[in-house]
Amino acid sequence: MNLFQRKIIKPSVGLALLGLTLQSAQTLSTPSEGQTLFETTCAACHGKDLSGGAGFNLKDETWVHGSQPDDILANIKKGFGQAGMPGFAGVYSEPQLKSIVDYVLSKRQGFDNLTYKIYHLDDNAPASFAIMDKLEVAKSGPLTTNLMDFAMPEAKDYIIEFEGDLYAPKENPGQIFAMIYKEMFELEIDGQVIKPSKFEWLQVAWPIKAGKQHVKIRYSTVGTRANHNKQFSFFVANQDLTQKLFGISTPGKQFLNNATVNVKAETQPQVVRKKIVNLPVSSVAVGFPEKINYAFNTKNCTINGAWTGDLLNVGPNIEGRGRDGGVILGDWLFHSPQGIAPESSNCIFTKYNRQGNPSFVYEIDGNQYSVQVSPQSANALTFTYTLLQGSNSRLMLNLPEVDKANFTSQEGKITNNQFSVPLKVGQSYAISLTLKGSK
Ligand code: HEC
Repeated sequence: MNLFQRKIIKPSVGLALLGLTLQSAQTLSTPSEGQTLFETTCAACHGKDLSGGAGFNLKDETWVHGSQPDDILANIKKGFGQAGMPGFAGVYSEPQLKSIVDYVLSKRQGFDNLTYKIYHLDDNAPASFAIMDKLEVAKSGPLTTNLMDFAMPEAKDYIIEFEGDLYAPKENPGQIFAMIYKEMFELEIDGQVIKPSKFEWLQVAWPIKAGKQHVKIRYSTVGTRANHNKQFSFFVANQDLTQKLFGISTPGKQFLNNATVNVKAETQPQVVRKKIVNLPVSSVAVGFPEKINYAFNTKNCTINGAWTGDLLNVGPNIEGRGRDGGVILGDWLFHSPQGIAPESSNCIFTKYNRQGNPSFVYEIDGNQYSVQVSPQSANALTFTYTLLQGSNSRLMLNLPEVDKANFTSQEGKITNNQFSVPLKVGQSYAISLTLKGSK
């Protein structure tokens, strides 16, 4: 018997049975009618394990045409003629179609109805989730991707809480597994805080229940590594952690798909400290939502690369998968050994500031400079050099050869790829790199 048959027999308890029926469908040892029909009719396009093929994946957290039983039933009945899926309304009886829906939903995995809440923290907030009661929600909403994204807030310090219904395998409930640096996280299942069953560097795990459960996952930036990019990979893995089953955060899903972990600057600048192909290991990459990026080499205080497009795929680096470094997700304008370089190699990098557009601070011969790079559009970067401290001097930079773009300065002080201008303490000077053919 399936969900819809029960609904017909006892309409008043139909909804209450929803969860129960979905949970028990898979424990039946003989294949249900739904499973048999699915395997003969739908598997050719959607895969025997529902993981997709010509048709969409039918067990993950993404439902393009609706995730509720009624939506799915309607979609199977009418089909998607233009995309190549026939309608099955005239092919199977109503109970047969409903048994298929039941089977599809019994295989479900990942989050549904995922929402988030962001709480901003001030500088001296304690490392505790108990304070959430006293905080106001700064921002909240649904996450239609049903994947967690911890880098979403536009604040420096915050708590973010995700809440949703998590569907896990019924035969082997498994664990939530996270590749994190023991940062401050808390997991709650059906109202109870769960202790990690494993708590190691880059390997933290929490046991979960079989089937559907209500999950909250909280993260606080307090007491965590200040420079981390918050691309936390979360999966559901099997009991002994030998198999990663499905991702429940955006980086986690990408990692499982193809060891691709794309770091993009979606809403604010992103700073990434990772080994990158074509750049010296001491480089720090900065990406902008405008889809233009650069890297600062802390060894010689040189802007050692700039590229258009998205920031990076850092996937190859995770868990020692390949040692080739991350790759940029766009096109180089220039890269190492080319760069915007101070004339003196006598530089000491001191720090970088993350306020607004990041800036890098360094010293040369007792003078302290900063360089702040700002996107003007997808086609232009402006490099602003400031003499912060020391004595009045001359800003001298060697510029790279760039085929696709031009350097300009307000006073035209660029000759033969060299730039030189007198600079007083407290003064700034800007040069721009603009793609050819753009304004
Ligand atoms: C000939 C290939 C084919 C067959 C057979 C087929 N489908 Fe599909 N199905 C597709 C394609 C292609 C799509 C994507 C439609 C689109 O692009 O919007 C799809 C979409 C769907 C969706 C919507 C998924 C979503 O994300 O909302 C459901 C549900 C679905 N199919 C169920 C079934 C079931 C159940 C069967 C068997 C009774 C079946 N399909 C048979 C090709 C097929």
